[in-house]
Amino acid sequence: MLSRETREGITLEPIVGAPFGARVSGVDPVALTSAQKAVLLNAYADAHGLLCFGFDELLTAEQLHALTAVFGENEFAPGRINGIGRRAREGEPESTVDEQVAKLRNKGVDPYLAFIGNLDPKTLERQPISEKFFGEWEWHTDMSYIPVPPTFSLLHARIIPDDGGDTGFCNQVLAAKALPDDLRSRIVGRSIKHDSTYGSSGILRPGMTVPESPVEALGAVHPILRRVPSTGDEALFLGRRTNGYIPDLPLGESEALLNAVWAHATQPEFCYRHAWRVGEVVVWDNRMLLHMRHPVDESRDRFMWRTQTKGEAVVAST
Ligand code: OGA
Ligand code: MN
Repeated sequence: MLSRETREGITLEPIVGAPFGARVSGVDPVALTSAQKAVLLNAYADAHGLLCFGFDELLTAEQLHALTAVFGENEFAPGRINGIGRRAREGEPESTVDEQVAKLRNKGVDPYLAFIGNLDPKTLERQPISEKFFGEWEWHTDMSYIPVPPTFSLLHARIIPDDGGDTGFCNQVLAAKALPDDLRSRIVGRSIKHDSTYGSSGILRPGMTVPESPVEALGAVHPILRRVPSTGDEALFLGRRTNGYIPDLPLGESEALLNAVWAHATQPEFCYRHAWRVGEVVVWDNRMLLHMRHPVDESRDRFMWRTQTKGEAVVAST
């Protein structure tokens, strides 16, 4: 998208200074027509994986779920249901997804909504939280340590600091296009094991132990270069650097190659840093983009709502 345009009552414009992404306004999430949904899906593909929706008011959960459903089937929020960013606790009885959902609903918990922040979601009072929350979150794609990671993630800014806590996005379609031939030849046909030890902020995930080395780390193995079937784009799929490992290579060689690929993939010309405004929703495609969070001052509050869509099998690009 090269300039501002309005289609089906929805206004789209490029994000000033960003190499990808688009701003969207004029959307009523619970009253979208199918023509408007098509406009949004086209816009996201044109914008290579990122749309930023401006809203004057905070959304209800129903509105955020409706917007999420434009992009795919709503997935349980990370950490709510076993197997979706959550491991069964030690001694926890086996239970079906339906049983887990019923239990959450009984407690008044929405299984499709996660809260990211340092505030209690009910009272919005400060809650005790790991100091890692405030530091920088490393580049990652969401839950790529499971075999079928969620495709789209959405963040809705409800309380944001005056400064700090920006979210960075790095476009792996642009990075794949710009791969130098020698680096491409070293990674074509290879995979990466995506470590499941740590969460986005670097906290040990429940039930995990620290592996002796990346070779022993647990996590799903995915092709380094993937194809996004819906757009035809090729993208680098790196997950996160910590404990990344290229199976079949000696650890030293894997480290050297991963360092080279990451240095290429995260160059500033592929990146956009989003400074949040209250009410915004950013939706991104985890098949195309890495994201990270910049540090937050410990005295500041930050509170986001988060949803995601069901994933699809990762397709290798050969
Ligand atoms: C996430 C995430 C970053 C942020 O919710 O998956 O990485 O800026 N959030 O809150
Ligand atoms: Mn994330």
